[in-house]
Amino acid sequence: MTSSRLNLIEESATLAIASLASDLARQGRDVITLSLGEPDFATPEYICESAVRAMRNGKTHYTPSAGIPELKGAIAEKLRTDNDIDVTSDQILVTPGAKQAVFEATQAVLDEGDEAILLDPSWLTYDACIRYAGARSVWVPADRDFMPLDIGDYVTDRTKLIIVNSPGNPSGAVFGKKDLENVADIAIDYDIMVLSDEIYEKIIYDRRHFSIGSFDGMYDRVITINGFSKSYAMTGWRLGYMAAPDDIIKAALKLQSHSVSHATSFVQYAGITALSSDQRSIESMVKEFRARRDILVDGLNSLGFDCKKPYGAFYVFLDVADYGGGDAVAEHLLKDAYIAVTPGSAFGPGSGEFIRISYSAPRDRIYDALERIKNTID
Ligand SMILES: Cc1ncc(COP(=O)(O)O)c(C=O)c1O
Repeated sequence: MTSSRLNLIEESATLAIASLASDLARQGRDVITLSLGEPDFATPEYICESAVRAMRNGKTHYTPSAGIPELKGAIAEKLRTDNDIDVTSDQILVTPGAKQAVFEATQAVLDEGDEAILLDPSWLTYDACIRYAGARSVWVPADRDFMPLDIGDYVTDRTKLIIVNSPGNPSGAVFGKKDLENVADIAIDYDIMVLSDEIYEKIIYDRRHFSIGSFDGMYDRVITINGFSKSYAMTGWRLGYMAAPDDIIKAALKLQSHSVSHATSFVQYAGITALSSDQRSIESMVKEFRARRDILVDGLNSLGFDCKKPYGAFYVFLDVADYGGGDAVAEHLLKDAYIAVTPGSAFGPGSGEFIRISYSAPRDRIYDALERIKNTID
């Protein structure tokens, strides 16, 4: 009885693993969860206080669908200062999470029969949104550094959108300026839109983040998506946004106003506080992520894996072809070592030989996981 449109997409694989892991935990197993896509840190206290204050001040009613003007203004200012993207508040749409922004942006741009280019591996939601729009995902293989190989070879006269996600989930790869310039050149030459998901922008090590929306000639063809989940450990709050040309904002707003209406009122006020307060909580979180990344990558390499240090996000995308491939290894690790990781097959048709390990877990759990992996592969 379900619609054919929804039969086109699958349940989120990361959530499916999480539910299996929690079943095992309920049975009393000591499960190490290295499968989640969220910082394991608490939301900074001053952000929580700000939401409480907003609630007490009666900010508990409907807001404009596109978001409260003060937050849109703060986001526009952030994009100008941090990202060199020159937008007005009217070109901002505040959404309940960046995921909703990705959903609305893809539905706003894509028609049935269109093609959208994305990297293999990519975050699983892009493909689901592309399919839901009736369009087709065209996967571009990655090189050993998880950079796309020759995107231009995959452009056809149906290509409408290229999706870029840097720093990237699941690989942690960071696009350099040159890599993004290549994408921009293709987008301009073939008249294609770009969706740039920059949610991991602040979780970056020894590299600089560039926003493709700031490049010459790209102003009218980039949808920049970002949010509060990762930078401020606010996953459960559901707050994100897109900055895009007027027509895309208008189209996405129609979808938002007839579905979720708007992001939660007092959460939007907390968002202003997050952007306008001192950003030291991000620095200390990133410092800890870097230490964990080093423990994990050095540990895996000492066990005989071949793993480079990613420059961003909080994931390692590990080649386990020699151990039976991603699905088998993820199942083996969960059932025999009680470690939850995500199989690479969730991130693209060519990524089945990998697993994604999230190092958003305390250091002692990462050490424990390495010990268990050692015992499992011995
Ligand atoms: C690449 C990427 N974009 C967007 C999101 C979703 O962020 P939000 O919590 O703001 O919806 C995630 C979450 O895992 C992600 O990995």
